[in-house]
Amino acid sequence: MVKYEPEVFLHGGDYNPDQWLDYPEILEKDIALMQQAHVNAVSLGIFSWALLEKEEGVYDFSWMDRIVERLTEAGIGIILATPSGARPAWLAQKYPEVLRCNERFVRQHFGRRHNHCLTSPVYREKVRAMDTALAQHYGRHTGVKLWHIGNEFGGYCYCPLCADAFREFLKEKYGTLDALNARWWTGFWSQRYTAWAQIEPPSSEGQDSNPSMMLDWRRFETEQCRSFIAMERDAVQSVNPDIPVTINLMEGFLDYDYFALQEAVDVVSWDSYPEWGSGDDVATAASTAFYHDLMRSMKSQPFLLMESTPSQVNWKPHNKLKRPGMHMLASLQSVAHGSQSVLMFQWRKGRGGAEAFHGAVVSHDGRSDTRVFRDVEAVGETLQKIPEILSATVKARACVIYDYENRWALEGVEAAQKGHMQYLETVMSMHRALWEKGVSVDVRDMREETDLSDYSLVVAPLLFMFRNGFEDKLRVFVEKGGTLLMTYFSGIVDGDRLTFLGDAPHGLTEVLGLRAEEIDALYPQDQNTCVLSDGTCCTVRELCEIPRDVTAQVIGRYGNDFYAGLPCLTVHSYGKGRAWYLGAKLSQTDLMRVMERVCGETDLAAAWNTPLPYGVIASRRGDYVFLQNFSGREQKIECSGTFRDIVNGQCVTDTCMLPVNGIMILKKA
Ligand code: GAL
Repeated sequence: MVKYEPEVFLHGGDYNPDQWLDYPEILEKDIALMQQAHVNAVSLGIFSWALLEKEEGVYDFSWMDRIVERLTEAGIGIILATPSGARPAWLAQKYPEVLRCNERFVRQHFGRRHNHCLTSPVYREKVRAMDTALAQHYGRHTGVKLWHIGNEFGGYCYCPLCADAFREFLKEKYGTLDALNARWWTGFWSQRYTAWAQIEPPSSEGQDSNPSMMLDWRRFETEQCRSFIAMERDAVQSVNPDIPVTINLMEGFLDYDYFALQEAVDVVSWDSYPEWGSGDDVATAASTAFYHDLMRSMKSQPFLLMESTPSQVNWKPHNKLKRPGMHMLASLQSVAHGSQSVLMFQWRKGRGGAEAFHGAVVSHDGRSDTRVFRDVEAVGETLQKIPEILSATVKARACVIYDYENRWALEGVEAAQKGHMQYLETVMSMHRALWEKGVSVDVRDMREETDLSDYSLVVAPLLFMFRNGFEDKLRVFVEKGGTLLMTYFSGIVDGDRLTFLGDAPHGLTEVLGLRAEEIDALYPQDQNTCVLSDGTCCTVRELCEIPRDVTAQVIGRYGNDFYAGLPCLTVHSYGKGRAWYLGAKLSQTDLMRVMERVCGETDLAAAWNTPLPYGVIASRRGDYVFLQNFSGREQKIECSGTFRDIVNGQCVTDTCMLPVNGIMILKKA
């Protein structure tokens, strides 16, 4: 792995001069405008394949050379993309195998992007050749700082080549069909396979109801993507292994296990498009904070914000403008969570194509005196004022477990709330309960290398699957003095999605001091309560698990139904630590109450030690506290001590006002 350590915060974004080659006067203006906006980095060539290789094997870098030279002379660093996100028409025409087949096994036509067969040897070879040519041409250029591999990898291909590769993947994993049949539980519905050739990719037209197979399919697709990225990485680093590589990840993404993909790159970056102004900016900020934390945690390293919009997007049903202050607030929120950049899509709006009305730093009017341009300029200026934050790191002593494979396993599960177990939402609500308290949080998964020893709190909601012996890690964590919070429907299946035999949560009943016997699903109109020992009554919806043989201390009991009086919230001492168990789904407010009690037993420090109004969030990066106002109204902040606002240099003491969408970066004076 190459260490990626930018010298300054990167500010800039996707630059598509290839759309403007017939407009030299526009290209001329771009550099001056970039300098005015304090742009110091651009992503170049993301979708340039058709111009770089107009004919098979004939590469033309002349147009890009001119751009690269101009940018370099202007001190603007280049994040050079490999163009594998969209292929030229000639390639699709000559080699149809590069086109994906959909899950009905129908071959797609040329068009769109991000829709290639990642298994196709022709596609891999053509991309490798293109990337190698790029590396030979630019690999030693001082202006090139980082490689941007492809763009937003995603989606599955179901072509015959992929089907064959899937079978090879399974042979490698299971060795024999007997082993596969046993792990896929094919005795159910007469699914037994007697020849490898009988196995096809899962499809809504065929096999879509074997959960173990679905898991293997997603693992296979992840591996195809990981090896594709690794192939591209090796190609671009073949000339100069010192330029790091990244891929741009997305939020809410389900197709691949991102923790596995990140192993192929040097630095994690992601594209963030929150729906600010859609009704509840605190909720939007909470979910964005979760993704920032996830991206930072993947490599336990600072990450890059690769894309964000300077104003509106164009692909949502309602493309609202960013309100005044929001571009600064959202940009610096990423910095608070460990970003080394604020990069945007896109520098300039094109005249045509699908994204001509997507927000950009420069609009069709070409002006720099617009509201959006000024917002961008202000963020660039601010980033220049906070260089000391670049080397400051977010140190979290709490983590939330979020595991892609567990999500896959839960996604379509035909159990209590069929297809609606809400895993990601539950993880995010737990994360939010800590984020609102100003506690820094990492996000970890169940890979073998996951190490919990640095944490004092581990929150592991809805951990339906235990893989790689994760239950042992949780047990040891508590034994050694950690605080664990688990929930209902945990420790039910193993890594192949076969249920454990015996009491649940598998391997942790002694740690929790109970066993989970049944889980009740409530109809949407129904509710129950969890009555806490101090009399507080929490509302419970959707899921209620019924524990038995409880030796743990009972903190809350069900209020209604045939399980009224049975424990719903418990805590149990085990070794030197404490294991909390929450049996039911609570509202966010009630979850906050529970989290308050759980955190009260730990040594976790909040970023700000006086109470903050709702919607004002404190996040810590090194010695710096970012106070962010997502509440939609001006807020008064109480300070205990004297702080220095490192953006404007002023002293803050006793109280201060934070405007709507305001943000302050403070250091104890
Ligand atoms: C991203 C993509 C960009 C652009 C942007 C628009 O997902 O990587 O190329 O399409 O969305 O918001």
